[in-house]
Amino acid sequence: MIPLFKVFMPEDVDKPLLETLHSGFIGEGPRVLEFEELLKKYLQTENVLTTNSGTSALHLAYHMIIGNTKLKRVLTTPITCTATNNPIVLNGGKIGWVDVDPITGNITSQTLKEALDYYYADAVSIVHWGGNPCDIEEISNICKEHDLKLVEDGAHSLGMEYKGKPFGYYSDFAMHSFQAIKHITCGDGGCLICKNKEDYERAKLLRWYGVDRTIREGIDLRCELDIPEAGYKFHMNDLAATIGIKSFKYLDEIVNKHRDNAKYYDSIFEGKIKYVPENPNGKSSYWLYTIHVENRDELMWKLKEEGIMTSKVHSRNDTHSMFAEFKRDLPGVESFNRTHLCIPVGWWITEQDREYIAKKVLEYAK
Ligand SMILES: Cc1ncc(COP(=O)(O)O)c(C=O)c1O
Repeated sequence: MIPLFKVFMPEDVDKPLLETLHSGFIGEGPRVLEFEELLKKYLQTENVLTTNSGTSALHLAYHMIIGNTKLKRVLTTPITCTATNNPIVLNGGKIGWVDVDPITGNITSQTLKEALDYYYADAVSIVHWGGNPCDIEEISNICKEHDLKLVEDGAHSLGMEYKGKPFGYYSDFAMHSFQAIKHITCGDGGCLICKNKEDYERAKLLRWYGVDRTIREGIDLRCELDIPEAGYKFHMNDLAATIGIKSFKYLDEIVNKHRDNAKYYDSIFEGKIKYVPENPNGKSSYWLYTIHVENRDELMWKLKEEGIMTSKVHSRNDTHSMFAEFKRDLPGVESFNRTHLCIPVGWWITEQDREYIAKKVLEYAK
């Protein structure tokens, strides 16, 4: 079976991981700091915090935006993992669904404006489906006009490019995920990128019970400092960070392989199969390669019989009982969700694999 996802674990991680394992420091220690320094350089900001998952990073952002007031509403997409939206309701917020483009699955400035005619809101959450950038600048301008916080869920988007700016440049909060099957993994892990220094400093406290962990001369750090606000236990540990550090140097290579495979599919499918086009203002990280077909479920099973793993990966999550009170008609979501299918595109797909996959898709797609 050609897998849809594969864990990237470089061989040269074994030695440093063993070293960390026996170093006497396996909690949040020097490796976490080192990984954060790497991320700061890559994301061109000092305001980056690692977390134990991407979901935790979003939870911190919504803790700061919503603050459990039970009055705030976040406009968001249902075409995503439920992890995008759970932290909104878990922080006491309300959801306002925004429709998506029926082909890209992304929120657009038009669908956002339509949602703003429908709802009063405090924040907007966007997801770049498969790593293909939304029109972030336009969306960010709308957010500024309406005094809305912008949160970018970049769980699919490590390595994505948009208008030459680093990820998170246009938003108040942004997140990446280093979960098992992402471009690079820490086993599990994530990071939060904050626009403001004050949010970063607050998130840093919230990440570990609310305690300031700065080492100070003469202070017994767990016991003597005041905790201004109750926090979580969301920090990354040194084992996860060691994997992240070692894997990070392969990021460009990995993303380039995803892109190369995607461009091959584009060239074969052009005029024959509808596929998600890359945003011309950026470069997709192609964590997913998504096609649209009328016989999606049949195609999925036919491809499985031919040894090719495919999936919807995420289906609309506005239909879950937990979100029932927020339901409304979303024609773009309906259309995307009826026809979308993700085919293997990652670094493990060889030229021979992709030729075989494209041939079988063309054979069975309707
Ligand atoms: C779009 C999206 N957002 C958020 C998450 C959650 O990230 P994590 O698994 O790192 O908590 C995922 C899945 O991993 C995702 O696909």
